[in-house]
Amino acid sequence: MAVLLRLPHSLGGMNAPVLAAVAWPYANGPRHIGHVSGFGVPSDIFARYQRMAGNRVLMVSGTDENGTPIQVQADAEGVTPRELADKYNRMIVTDLQGLGLSYDLFTRTTTANHHRVVQELFLALNRNGYVFARSGLGAISPSTGRTLPDRYIEGTCPICGYGSARGDQCDNCGHQLDPADLINPRSRINGEIPQFVQTEHLFLDLPAFTKALGGWLSTRTEWRPNVLKFALNLLDDVRPRPITRDLDWGVRVPLEGWRDAPMKRFYVWFDAVIGYLSASVEWAVRSGDPDAWQAWWCDSDARSYYFMGKDNITFHTQIWPAMLLGQNGAGDRGGEPGVFGTLNLPTEVVSSEFLTMSGSKFSTSRGTVIYVGDFLREFGPDTLRYFISVAGPETQDTDFTWDEFVRRINFELANEWGNLVNRSIAMAHRTLGAVPAPSTLQAADFELLATSRAAFGTVGALLERNRFKAAIGEAMRVVGAANKYLSEQEPWKRTDEVSRRDTILHTALQVVADANTLLTPFLPHAAQRVHEQLGGTGVWSAQPQITEVSEIVPTAGLNFAGPNYPILTGDYAAEQARWVSVPVEVGRPLAKPIPLFAKLDPRLGETGPGWAPIQP
Ligand code: MF3
Ligand code: ZN
Repeated sequence: MAVLLRLPHSLGGMNAPVLAAVAWPYANGPRHIGHVSGFGVPSDIFARYQRMAGNRVLMVSGTDENGTPIQVQADAEGVTPRELADKYNRMIVTDLQGLGLSYDLFTRTTTANHHRVVQELFLALNRNGYVFARSGLGAISPSTGRTLPDRYIEGTCPICGYGSARGDQCDNCGHQLDPADLINPRSRINGEIPQFVQTEHLFLDLPAFTKALGGWLSTRTEWRPNVLKFALNLLDDVRPRPITRDLDWGVRVPLEGWRDAPMKRFYVWFDAVIGYLSASVEWAVRSGDPDAWQAWWCDSDARSYYFMGKDNITFHTQIWPAMLLGQNGAGDRGGEPGVFGTLNLPTEVVSSEFLTMSGSKFSTSRGTVIYVGDFLREFGPDTLRYFISVAGPETQDTDFTWDEFVRRINFELANEWGNLVNRSIAMAHRTLGAVPAPSTLQAADFELLATSRAAFGTVGALLERNRFKAAIGEAMRVVGAANKYLSEQEPWKRTDEVSRRDTILHTALQVVADANTLLTPFLPHAAQRVHEQLGGTGVWSAQPQITEVSEIVPTAGLNFAGPNYPILTGDYAAEQARWVSVPVEVGRPLAKPIPLFAKLDPRLGETGPGWAPIQP
């Protein structure tokens, strides 16, 4: 065992704090596979790899439960926002657990702790002079008195005459609009005519951060080019952003005259991004060391990676960094750090593009939705994780088709990897019932072993840079090389050369073990089973667990998440997986292997499953 703990020093420094900050899914519906291809699977592959490489990972997120997106859906379902958030929080927690996303803490934004951290961070921004109040015309729904967000207002474009322009822009001519510009404006929620009233809101003074943001972005040379380009373009037109809404569901504004206002709350994006910090604080308190979060937020050797779909880039490359700069006192107006001290800006914003289905963005309204829960029930987690890893929308929009899913699972995952594991272990089990001892190695054996050892460097370097497709491609190349080796060496024919046969089997099992390590970040459930089929015991790759908890700060009289809510957390320190080649143990008993992946019925590729049929 001790030998396993000696880790390569080349992989980005050992034991460094690495924050995996994962975008917070809205608790306003079940999540579909497009969502988890953006924030979910990529972040988990990265976090698992970083842990295996010996770094101290903190992976946090939760459900996004405040503001308009929740209020609008609650109205649609005829329930309170609280009931809606409770229902979908539980559903999402179950889905993410099933997918094996290894959060240290997956919580929610309706906790008292989150509200308190949001208010503290706001107060620092405000003290440093980066917030101002301004009155203006705002659209409200006459029936509810709530802010009608720009994108919920529809009308005729004053520029091109298009009849279904939105309050923020016209999809026909592309012009940016103001809701008050629309001809015949109406609410997309219930058709009523919005009322334009004088209302006061707080604004974040974003232009005061243009210089600091530009300086910071100019040092981010390693980002995916599309993300960096997008972020730099945003700097061409920086305007103050309103950070409050007329609404009664969300975090209260801790200022005189605002605190008790019945219809003033923070804008949902203002509170949600602070979740990364509040969840880290909550994790620290739950782990018994309330200051432990500082290692990921205040230490200069800490790195932070933010994972999301591309519609979130603005908030993570501009708004959140500006909020951090402001609370640090590092914008044009200077200032002092708030109660959290000087906080680190993102090391990298890792954004995916969209997973589409038959050319259209996944959308609940268009009826082409594949929900994560349905998917997991029928196909299990690792087939989806595999598909997203090899064919996901890493750098461009990518179409999901059942046909490609079936092909990838049957011809790659089952035929290549499943088959290699099965035939290597089955043969060794049949002939010896244990891992055979090798004798003198030949050139072909050395070559294959060298290929699999070298892959730790190549695949690791690619994962370090979040190049998931290339990384799994390299890992699968090892699998291909091992299959070719077995076909050429034909151990099953060597009944008269037992020592050569055993050497071949030993070599094959070593490469199965190596490939399993290389594939662990992508296929953690299968990896645990391969570990066991190779005669291993204990936890190879740890999985998140659902735990019922209560609030960590008193909620006296307030309507917070309490008394109990489910969180995801896990004992990842107990897992054995390390990013090194571990010699297989000669003589270790092997059991008859059970196939790793079931082959899918090819007809699925033509029809889709009953719960998400292919539409003609
Ligand atoms: N709820 C948002 C979405 O689904 C993401 C929020 S990410 C956070 O698009 F940074 F704000 F937390
Ligand atoms: Zn137009």
